[in-house]
Amino acid sequence: MPKRNTITTLFIVLNFLVFAQDKLDPVIEGRITELMSTMTVQEKVGQTCQITLDALFVRDEEEKVLDPERIDPAKLKEAMSTYGIGSILNVSWHTFDLEMWEKVMSEVHAPFNNGETKAPIIYGIDAIHGVNYTVGGTLFPQEIGLAATWNPALAMRFGEVTAYETRASGICWNFSPVLDLGRQPLWSRNFETLGEDPFLVSEMGKAIICGYQGKDGIGSEHVIACMKHFVGYSNPLTGRDRTPAWIPDKYMKELYLPSFKAAVEEGALTVMINSGAVNGIPGHINYDLITKTLKEDWGFQGFAVSDWEDFIFLNNVHQTAEDNYQGIISAFNAGVDMSMVPYNPQYKEYCELMIKAVDNKVISEERLNDAVRRILRVKMIGGLFDKGMNQAKKYPDFGSEKFKSIALESALESITLLKNEKDILPLSSSSKVLIAGPTSDNLIFLNGAWTHTWQGANTDFNTEGAKTVREAFTEKLGSENCLFAKGAELYLDEGFEATKLVDQEDFKVKADKSDVIVLCLGEYPSTEKPGDIRSLNLDPAQLELAEAAYSTGKPVVLVMVEGRPRVIREIVEGAGAIVQAYLPGDYGADALVELIFGEENFSGKLPYTYPKYDGIFEFYDHPKSVARSKGNDFEAYDPQWDFGFGLSYSEVEYSNLRLSTKNMTTADSLVIEVDVTNKSERDTKEIVQLYVSDLFASMIPNGKSLKGFDKVEIKAGNTETTRFVITADDLKFVDASGNWISEAGTFEISIGNLLSKFELK
Ligand code: BGC
Repeated sequence: MPKRNTITTLFIVLNFLVFAQDKLDPVIEGRITELMSTMTVQEKVGQTCQITLDALFVRDEEEKVLDPERIDPAKLKEAMSTYGIGSILNVSWHTFDLEMWEKVMSEVHAPFNNGETKAPIIYGIDAIHGVNYTVGGTLFPQEIGLAATWNPALAMRFGEVTAYETRASGICWNFSPVLDLGRQPLWSRNFETLGEDPFLVSEMGKAIICGYQGKDGIGSEHVIACMKHFVGYSNPLTGRDRTPAWIPDKYMKELYLPSFKAAVEEGALTVMINSGAVNGIPGHINYDLITKTLKEDWGFQGFAVSDWEDFIFLNNVHQTAEDNYQGIISAFNAGVDMSMVPYNPQYKEYCELMIKAVDNKVISEERLNDAVRRILRVKMIGGLFDKGMNQAKKYPDFGSEKFKSIALESALESITLLKNEKDILPLSSSSKVLIAGPTSDNLIFLNGAWTHTWQGANTDFNTEGAKTVREAFTEKLGSENCLFAKGAELYLDEGFEATKLVDQEDFKVKADKSDVIVLCLGEYPSTEKPGDIRSLNLDPAQLELAEAAYSTGKPVVLVMVEGRPRVIREIVEGAGAIVQAYLPGDYGADALVELIFGEENFSGKLPYTYPKYDGIFEFYDHPKSVARSKGNDFEAYDPQWDFGFGLSYSEVEYSNLRLSTKNMTTADSLVIEVDVTNKSERDTKEIVQLYVSDLFASMIPNGKSLKGFDKVEIKAGNTETTRFVITADDLKFVDASGNWISEAGTFEISIGNLLSKFELK
């Protein structure tokens, strides 16, 4: 049997720092000093102010933005020349084409290009799963799907394509990636995260940042990354967006901070602050986290931007500031460098209050200078002072087939097979298939929010030529062999998603005529507050539709199209196969066809623990006490599917787990190798996962923790060897005093079904 050694590439590919945070470029710093010496306080304050594009548009008598949108020259002049605004963000309410972007960009950059302002504006956009605010851009799976690929090299290519297409739109700052840990499945933004594990999030996050910012600095095809949302935003206790989180210091350090620290080390240039509160402190006034941890301890030299209206929310939401003046002072002094105000006339009030605060010395000039220096530094590194950026014509690969194939590959590697009873998959291409379910025939369900519009639910903007599940299956099988009956409709009922059954008779008749039913269930597109829900359970009407499908006696392939893992316990048993599609993007349906008919092998694995019960959230790394049974067959740790779980069409066997030493000292590296054999007749990609358990410690240890992974391509019948290296640093935990320590003792390694132990001396 052929055998080949694959060294884990993961750590090598990403092991460079794009911008050494401790080494500032003296030339850039000198230019900043010179420029700042000519700037007034008002000009400096302007640099710290970010407004939305809508604040500049012409409006009618009722203050509605005119359609088509156009910039009001007087508003632009006032914002740029009078207030010296430093940044603009977003589209209006919908996506623009390249031509419109070029027009907008040439207008907003004109004041600097014409010498009317001393510094250019920096334009920011949420291009979070591809350039989702530019017509014709390449739309990838949302981050949760990208995480399910467990493939940092692919994540880097996602970053590269997105950066290229964002630059083609004339924009050089991307509010991405989200590095928040996905540990609250109720949260409406779960799909924007890279899953529940700090190591997986860190590795995938670094790869995306490297793709965005480039390996050797920001060139004309790169964008400035923005780490979001520092920190703890993703774990609201109530599950509802922007509500408080409780995160003890130990878990903040072990779980929530590592992905941001890794991103800073990778050279990420900007950060956006958590709009919620942690332990009673709004993210925007958390001096310890923003100034001490991020800037001082980690040496972050870029700038921190607030989230939407968050200086104002300190007064009218969090109630830690009696008025906007106090809000501005507390956030700016905590270390937030730029305020996303974002409206007109609020931005004027912001600038005026900032100037007053500096005059009154409640914000020091030193602090203002620090913020402005950080902002100008990022603008210089990003090439914004070099006039004349952005020409769509210079970006011939925008929306190209080449880019689409990378998006398709990402969808193929992310979609996860959760059940395949009696090998009902792959389907034969001669089968007669009924495509059904509320998410089966509209692109909005495959893409989710942040697609052409904020909530992504407006069908008018769907990408031309991209296919729904129904269309992709019809293309494969021909309309005579691909029947369609939706069976249920997903819609918004007073702001909450709801499902109603439709045309049940038609559904039954067509089911009877088919060999198999592909039933697409899932969620209505949404994010942030509009995405708040009351329960993680899938809507009863969708369960009912699944039961109706099962009652036909035909095999059912359940396809979940969802951003959150909705509880589906009651319909798991009846399904022949279950496929988790996440939000796979514009090429998700093509990928589903290739996987379901076996033209491609499944290789995605869950980046989170899939809950079985509403209200009980469990994570794979839980301490033993979580899994302590009460007896009578009551399994305490009982998720629907485990983190890291996913099937394929290949049987893979792990063997020969070997450790370079069984007695490790804190100075040693431990080399771990394992052989992985593909026992099937199909090529496969196996995600080899390395877990370590500390068996006894002075604080309750995790049951196990992910310490390495490698996605290995294994040809049919072949064996590959995977190698991991860990050091004593990987065995550390945060003790009761808040320090990272390692303790001597016995540790267990697990890879696949294999276990081995070693001692740390
Ligand atoms: C979101 C951010 C986003 C910003 C700008 C906020 O409401 O929380 O993630 O980057 O809006 O669109």
